[in-house]
Amino acid sequence: MLPKIENVRAEALEALQAATDADELERLRVRYLGRKGVVAEIMAEMRGLPPEEKPAVGRAANELKQAITDLLKKKKSGVSAAPAGRKVAFDFSLPGRRPERGRLHPITRTIDSIKDIFIRLGFSVAVGPEVETNYHNFEALNIPLDHPSRDAFDTFYLRDDVLLRSQTSTVQIRVMEHQPPPVRVIAPGKVFRPDTVDASHMFLFHQIEGLMVDEGVTLADLKYVLYEFARTFYDRDVKMRFRPHFFPFTEPSVEVDIGCFICEAKGCSVCSQKGWLEILGAGMVDPSVFEAVGYDPERYTGFAFGMGVERIAMLKHGIDDIRLFLENDLRFLAQF
Ligand code: PHE
Repeated sequence: MLPKIENVRAEALEALQAATDADELERLRVRYLGRKGVVAEIMAEMRGLPPEEKPAVGRAANELKQAITDLLKKKKSGVSAAPAGRKVAFDFSLPGRRPERGRLHPITRTIDSIKDIFIRLGFSVAVGPEVETNYHNFEALNIPLDHPSRDAFDTFYLRDDVLLRSQTSTVQIRVMEHQPPPVRVIAPGKVFRPDTVDASHMFLFHQIEGLMVDEGVTLADLKYVLYEFARTFYDRDVKMRFRPHFFPFTEPSVEVDIGCFICEAKGCSVCSQKGWLEILGAGMVDPSVFEAVGYDPERYTGFAFGMGVERIAMLKHGIDDIRLFLENDLRFLAQF
């Protein structure tokens, strides 16, 4: 009888192991452990055995029953809800699948940390629309219709006088239209330009505008605020230089560079051998802008700046292609 029990055991365990749904397990349970099942049959047969054989056979039969019961229990907890008829083998020893967690886009994170720095410096955060009027994007910023500096921005018109903004400087105007001085705001947001896409240009990117207006604001205040920003954001002592430049809405205007920290200002491919990296444009608010919003230019002065978020993030993380931010490639995004 012992070989027979051994056969039943092998057959039962194999069938149970292969079962993939609850109905099938139930069928197997009835077949082996049911009142007229295989195990009951063995027990009945055992009664007719000579007494000296009974103990060994009895032990084997009990062990068989126990093994089937155990495996049934284990399988049931795994397949309980599986639909009948789906005969897919399931490997219970595989590790679970970790659910993927979302995260903030690197541009959002960069904007957040820049905001934090300026909030600590006493600035509040303003927002303006991405669809703008000609007036806010150009005219009020001292860029009349025939001004040559319009060329680089003149695009994405939705109607004759309505366009996708080409700079966040529009928010300077909107803020000043709605409140008297003093003003201390930053304005993050998307801007749109007709730039041909390459490793450092995109038709859509992000800027953070800054504006501070009060009595007695000078270029020295601008220098302090920008230096404080760069030092905190890049978390190192940065060299900074102000190069004379032109913007229609600031006078004087500057472009601000920081010493390339990749090559320690010696010259490398990141800074195009210049040793300096341009991070933003800035200047003292032009009196004609104050006039456009009804501020008294004799009484108030102010500074404004505009920085490109992608560029600043690229410098911080050593990213060499601006297109990566918009391609939605998880291999890139998951690194932040
Ligand atoms: N709006 C300018 C640009 O997009 C940057 C800027 C902002 C310059 C504020 C001066 C003051 O290039």
